[in-house]
Amino acid sequence: MSVVNAIRGSEIAPDPAGREDTLAARYYVDQSVMDTEIRDLFYNSWQFVCHESEVANPGDYFAFTLHGQDFFLVRTSEGDLKGFHNVCPHRGHRLVEGQGSKSRVTCPYHAWTFTLEGKLRGARGVNRASEASRDRKNLLPVRVDQIVGFVFINADLDAESLAEFAPGLEQQMLGACPDLPDYVISAGSDEFGHTYLCNANWKVMLDNFLECYHCQMAHPEFNEMMAIPDSKFTMFRNFTYQNAPTKRKAENRAFPLDLEHDVLVGEFWWMFPNITFGRFPGVQNFYVSRFDPLEPGKTSRYTVTLAPRVPTDPGASVRDRLRSEWTNNVVAVEDKDLCEGVQQGMSQRAFRHGWYVTDPDDHGVSEHAMRHFHDLYRAWADKSLDPRS
Ligand code: FES
Ligand SMILES: [Fe+2]
Repeated sequence: MSVVNAIRGSEIAPDPAGREDTLAARYYVDQSVMDTEIRDLFYNSWQFVCHESEVANPGDYFAFTLHGQDFFLVRTSEGDLKGFHNVCPHRGHRLVEGQGSKSRVTCPYHAWTFTLEGKLRGARGVNRASEASRDRKNLLPVRVDQIVGFVFINADLDAESLAEFAPGLEQQMLGACPDLPDYVISAGSDEFGHTYLCNANWKVMLDNFLECYHCQMAHPEFNEMMAIPDSKFTMFRNFTYQNAPTKRKAENRAFPLDLEHDVLVGEFWWMFPNITFGRFPGVQNFYVSRFDPLEPGKTSRYTVTLAPRVPTDPGASVRDRLRSEWTNNVVAVEDKDLCEGVQQGMSQRAFRHGWYVTDPDDHGVSEHAMRHFHDLYRAWADKSLDPRS
């Protein structure tokens, strides 16, 4: 029994009486909706940052900006991974830049120093009278958690852990790729160009990810490799899983497959709101992507790809290059064109919303996974968005 089957108890069945109308078009074009998403939804949800190998040793730090907010991760002397807002409690200067190793954090402005655990250690002139408020001058923490080595942060200190938020996701990923903990960042691989820009709302891109209704028509080469009618989307709490078998044809118009060494079943996950993971057919691989809104109609997709530490066979690097070229030059371009076409439609006054196609017997067609995304989004929007926006 596969791991996915073993945790089937938490699977959410498609609702035959579920709503038919898709998320209203205004959610895809409105600046105030995007501003609220960034301030409320993204800030208070789990966001992928880096792979644990990038902050492996005590003192290693990694500074980054997410949706306009500055943070850094640091590995403490005890080996724990901590995350902080990258802003000095004294007067707000940024504390660290880039990536490297430190034994303590020293602010470049007035030289307040902090331990790697975030405690104020030295602050010239801070006298005994203000000792009472010393703890309030520590670094401001964020939550840090991991899924098989992928590091996430959440600025909501009361957030559920990733295991609580998306129960079974990590087990499914390990079930699909048992040696994933030994994988390393793949410098040569270039799926989606690492950072890939698309002139479409981030939700348009995820809607496209969450159905394969378009695949047979819009991706003719992919369709020759994949058994689209046999693909299956399964829904879980705050995430979905797509199982997408290939036709097991070594030669096809997409890229060559080695039937002995390669991934022959594509497996893809989406986690609310803006994270995807996947294992593309072809040379052994595993990737994570984060979709970042830049404008209501512009999104950046940031991807990190992992690969086995030792190539599976002598031909792996050539096949990997062929897959990477095809992914970048063919399927990514096809999806970008589709998403940009949809974004154009979202601002048409005649288009108020779309319609889901849900067929529980044909997952090559059904859009129930996309509706799962929209249901979660609507639950958030009902609490957080001004109904007039
Ligand atoms: S702003 Fe950091 S020490 Fe003053
Ligand atoms: Fe597609």
